[in-house]
Amino acid sequence: MSHVITTEGLTKVYGSRTVVDSLDLRVPEGCVYGFLGPNGSGKSTTMKMLLSLVRPSRGGISVLGRPVDHRNRHEVAPLIGSLIESPPGYGHLTGRENMAIVRRMVGLTDRQVEHAVATVRLGDHMDRPVRAYSLGMKQRLGIAMALAREPRLLVLDEPTNGLDPAGIEEIRDLLVSLADEGVTVMVSSHLLDEVDRMASVLGILGRGRLVFQGTRSELFDRSTPDLIVDTSEPERALALGLSAARVPEGLRLTGLGDDGTADLVRLLVHHDVPVHGVRRVRRSLEEVFMDLTGHEGLS
Ligand SMILES: Nc1ncnc2c1ncn2[C@@H]1O[C@H](COP(=O)(O)OP(=O)(O)O)[C@@H](O)[C@H]1O
Ligand SMILES: [Mg+2]
Repeated sequence: MSHVITTEGLTKVYGSRTVVDSLDLRVPEGCVYGFLGPNGSGKSTTMKMLLSLVRPSRGGISVLGRPVDHRNRHEVAPLIGSLIESPPGYGHLTGRENMAIVRRMVGLTDRQVEHAVATVRLGDHMDRPVRAYSLGMKQRLGIAMALAREPRLLVLDEPTNGLDPAGIEEIRDLLVSLADEGVTVMVSSHLLDEVDRMASVLGILGRGRLVFQGTRSELFDRSTPDLIVDTSEPERALALGLSAARVPEGLRLTGLGDDGTADLVRLLVHHDVPVHGVRRVRRSLEEVFMDLTGHEGLS
């Protein structure tokens, strides 16, 4: 598999704080790569390093097969379409006027601009001032600006932040269709929900470290499924000091491996708790995400 972005030990230190810690990213070509992590986990700093907007403290970056350093960054950065933090654009100008500025700055053709505007479906709104746009429309204008030069790689920092479900759905459809056309899209979010259904590969940051990278199903495989114990007398089981949650069937326990399960069943049988059945159930993706990143700081 070829990778459009790779990093080796990518690190950023601010003062005495390591905010991005030894990342080995692998972003496969033509996918939507969901870059997840709680607020403050280092997503924006990482993306800014990929775009040469922030200089790494240590480590290497390769983008589209080229090693990036401070000498050649002016050649590599224009190959990436990007949207970092709040959407760009002048509020008092119309969408069309904003795109005209980008067209002159970047040296685009009219056809490229029209195609980008059509792709984000803003064609009917180009003569309105951008300050009258909804947040979702502003994000789409930002994406049109990033898309217009037809990059093979898009890096989008929290493009769904603050959007309503319909707006998120629109961005999701747009990014998935771009990936279908062969554009690699790296998209960050602090909310798993917002990227889960568009991303085919996930990279998860927790306190600056890459705590997971792979597909959604690999993420599931990482976690021990919960255990459901069917019993008509859950109170007696709880009285034995088990840490378990009550569920309609009886009890639900987290993080028990094979040996722990055998011990549990032995204990219950020993104390004459009726065990009608024991089975495994998957944790939700949200729960797995929380386990990996820690429960604090998510909002
Ligand atoms: N220029 C900077 N100087 C010092 N600390 C910074 C700077 N930029 C970001 N940080 C810190 O680095 C950490 C990661 O920030 P950031 O990359 O913005 O995280 P995220 O995008 O995941 O919310 C935060 O604790 C933030 O306060
Ligand atoms: Mg950020």
